[in-house]
Amino acid sequence: MIDLNEHSSLEMLQALPLWKENEQLLSRESAGESNMNLVLRINTNLRSVILKQSKAYVRKFPQIPAPIERIEIEHTYFQLLQGDEILKQYSPRILLYYPEEHILLIEDLGNGIDFTFLYKPASQLAYDDLESLSKYLNALHQLKLPNFPDNSAMKKLNHEHIFHFPFLEENGFDLDSIQPGLQELSLTYKTDHLLKNAISKLSKRYLADGDCLLQGDFYPGSWLKTTDGLKVIDPEFGFMGEREFDLGVFAAHLDLAQQEESVFKDFLQLYQHPFSMELLNAYQGVEIMRRLIGIAQVPVSLDLTQKKSLLDKARMLILT
Ligand SMILES: Nc1ncnc2c1ncn2[C@@H]1O[C@H](COP(=O)(O)OP(=O)(O)OP(=O)(O)O)[C@@H](O)[C@H]1O
Ligand SMILES: [Mg+2]
Repeated sequence: MIDLNEHSSLEMLQALPLWKENEQLLSRESAGESNMNLVLRINTNLRSVILKQSKAYVRKFPQIPAPIERIEIEHTYFQLLQGDEILKQYSPRILLYYPEEHILLIEDLGNGIDFTFLYKPASQLAYDDLESLSKYLNALHQLKLPNFPDNSAMKKLNHEHIFHFPFLEENGFDLDSIQPGLQELSLTYKTDHLLKNAISKLSKRYLADGDCLLQGDFYPGSWLKTTDGLKVIDPEFGFMGEREFDLGVFAAHLDLAQQEESVFKDFLQLYQHPFSMELLNAYQGVEIMRRLIGIAQVPVSLDLTQKKSLLDKARMLILT
């Protein structure tokens, strides 16, 4: 396999069978923040494109293996969404799929920003954007696609990092390196057997097959602000599951970003599908916890006291 990286030469990239006739590559740069895959923005004499290549490991941590077929999931997902009048407005077009090298060439949505600015103090999710997110999930969560790949390898990886690893007392991840005192705080939850039992039960629901297509990682890092409105990217964790999973993850990140309670209430007014609030709460709770005490941290602006109250809220969401 041709293992590309940010420093791969233009000659090497030009030699790949991805380009139009007479297309000359002019420059390449990293497209933005990313951990899992190689994501490049490539400028040519004809256009600007995004090249995404999955690897058999996590790009930023090559010692951690990761399912290389995740790019295929992304391809299938985006192709399906192009067939839907609403969802295609919120998605980049696929320009080319080169499965032999696990490369996807995607429409460049512009050098905009993702929504992780929401984690900064006093930033608010605009109502327009909330509406876009609701239109997206309304359209997505009604797709019945029995043949969508089960994505079981990525689910297994996510299962480990959502439901298991964060709650191990000895997992080798020193939370004090994130924030002094966080390690000790985390022990309250890591030693809570009632909580851990409930999480273990929930994890089995996550692993089971469901009947509705999920984005699978519906958080501000997967949303892009573009001149053409909000877009949703990075569906590599997509699978057929329970709607409450996408909803719970979304709600968790509104909490992590300290948004007013009314934001999610407004969202639920716009959301059109039936769901169980209890199940949504449970997924919300576990997502809050794994983002605060697991390895997949997000850039929150919370002191230790705020983290404790959010972790306590998360515990209640899971247990009641
Ligand atoms: N189609 C696109 N148009 C413009 N920018 C994009 C596009 N796709 C990705 N990017 C930029 O590249 C970044 C990384 O992309 P993406 O999230 O798909 O990669 P990833 O390796 O799966 O990331 P992660 O490790 O967060 O899962 C995005 O945050 C965004 O800034
Ligand atoms: Mg990703």
